[in-house]
Amino acid sequence: MSEPFLWGSSLCGGQAEGGISSRGFTVVDNMPQGKELRSHLLDDPQQYIDVPPGYYPSQNGVEFFTHYKEDIETFAQMGFKALRLSLLWSRVFPTGEETEPNEAGLLVYDDMIDCLLKKGITPIITLVHFDMPLWVVKKHNGFYNRETVDLYLRFAKVLLERYKGKVKHWLSFCEINNVNHALYMVGGALVPKTKTRDEVLYQTIHHLLLATSLLVQTAHEIDSENKVSCEVNANPFYPLTSAPEDYFKMIELDRTNYRYIDVMVKGKYPYYIQKDFIKQNVKMTEEDLNIMAENTLDFLSVSYYKSSIATKSSSLSENPLLTKTQWQWPIDPLGFRISLTQLYDRYQLPLLVVENGLGAKDQLVDQKVHDSYRIDYLRQHIKQMKLAIEEGVEVLGYLSWAALDVVSTSEGQMSKRYGFIYVDRNDDGSGSLKRYRKDSFYWYKQVIQTNGETL
Ligand code: BG6
Repeated sequence: MSEPFLWGSSLCGGQAEGGISSRGFTVVDNMPQGKELRSHLLDDPQQYIDVPPGYYPSQNGVEFFTHYKEDIETFAQMGFKALRLSLLWSRVFPTGEETEPNEAGLLVYDDMIDCLLKKGITPIITLVHFDMPLWVVKKHNGFYNRETVDLYLRFAKVLLERYKGKVKHWLSFCEINNVNHALYMVGGALVPKTKTRDEVLYQTIHHLLLATSLLVQTAHEIDSENKVSCEVNANPFYPLTSAPEDYFKMIELDRTNYRYIDVMVKGKYPYYIQKDFIKQNVKMTEEDLNIMAENTLDFLSVSYYKSSIATKSSSLSENPLLTKTQWQWPIDPLGFRISLTQLYDRYQLPLLVVENGLGAKDQLVDQKVHDSYRIDYLRQHIKQMKLAIEEGVEVLGYLSWAALDVVSTSEGQMSKRYGFIYVDRNDDGSGSLKRYRKDSFYWYKQVIQTNGETL
C-alpha cells in the first residue's frame, strides 16, 4: 500500500447532519421510514413534497452539525487520514431566493473543515449526496431543468472559492448511476404528466453529466491543484448461467453503469447511449459536448457493497452462492476486487474507494458493541482491495461507509448501522445521541496504524 494512502471513512449531510432549524429541506428530509414505503413512494415522489405529519429521520440525522467537534476528535483518534462528507446546498442556499449565501451556516462549515485539517484529516467534499434542496425540486424540477446546472454551479463556486487551498478533492455527485432507479433522490426530478419517465431520465442524465464537467472546469480554474471526481456505485453483474443470453444481459446491465463513467472519463458519450438520447429527444448543444470533451475526471470514486445477477429470466434472481446481510444484500468480497479491476482495466484512472461497509443491527451492551461481523466484512473486502493493488490497480485510498452510525438511505432506519461509532438514536428518534466506540473502532485504528498490514 503506497503512502500516503487515504484511510478513513465517509458521511453525508443528508444522513448525518440534522440541524434542520437553520437550513432548508432536502429531498430526503420528507422521506418516511421503511423500505416498503420508501420504494413505493419512489413511483410517486410528489408524496415526498406534500407530506403528512410524522417522524422523518433525516431532518435530524445524528446531529453531526452540533456534534462534529467531538466526532472529528474521535475520527482523529482512530487515525483517519481522510473524511469524505457532503456540505448541504440547502444550508448554503436555504430557499433559493438569497442574493448571498447563508454566512451563518458557512461559518460552521469553515470550522468543520478547519477542525479536520488541524487533526491532519484530508476533507473530501461531495456537493450532492442524495441531499439536494427541496426548493430545487419544487421550483425547477431538479436536473431535468437546464437551469439547475447553473444553480448547482453557483453553489459549487461558493465552496470552491471559500475552501481554496483547504479542500482539494471534490466529488460532483454521490452514485450518479443510481439515478437509473432513483430519479428523484439523485436527480431531484419529478415526471410531469405529459412526459414519460425515460424522457425525464435521459434529459436529467445529460444535465448531471454536464454539471460534473462544469464542476471540473470551474474547480481547475479556481485552483489548479483541485482534483475532481464523481462517485459511481460499482455493482458487478455475473451471468446466472452459461446461456449466451445471460452473458448479453450482463453486457446490457453493465452499460447502464458504464454510460456515466465512459463520458466522464473519455469525454464522449458512448455510442450505445446516443440512440437513447435521440429516442428520448434529449436536448443538448455543441457547446455542452465540447465542455464534456475538455473537462474529464481527475480520478474515479467508487462505492462497493454487493454484486448482482444478470439473467434472461424475467423473475428476480439471486446468487445462490453468496451469503447475505440482515437486509438481504449479498456479501461478495471478491466482487470488490472484480469491480476495482474492471474499472481500472477500462479507464486507467486512479480509483478512490469512497464507500464500503456492512449494515447490521448492533447491540449496545454495557456501553460496548461487539461487532465482529463488521470487522470480518471489512477485513475480507480490504484483503481483496490489497490483492487488486498488488496487481497494479492504482487505489488512492479506502473510505468505509460510514464513520459513525447514520440514518440509512434505503430504509430511513437508524437500526441499520454501518459506523465504527455507535450513536444512541433509535428508529423512532428517541435516544441520547451519545456516541460509543464499537470493537470495529479499535480494529480499524490498527489497520490504519499499520497501513493495512494488520487486518
Ligand atoms: C450508498 C449511499 O448507496 O449506500 C449511502 O451512498 C447509503 O448514502 C449506503 O447509506 C448504504 O445504503 P443503506 O440504504 O443501507 O443506507
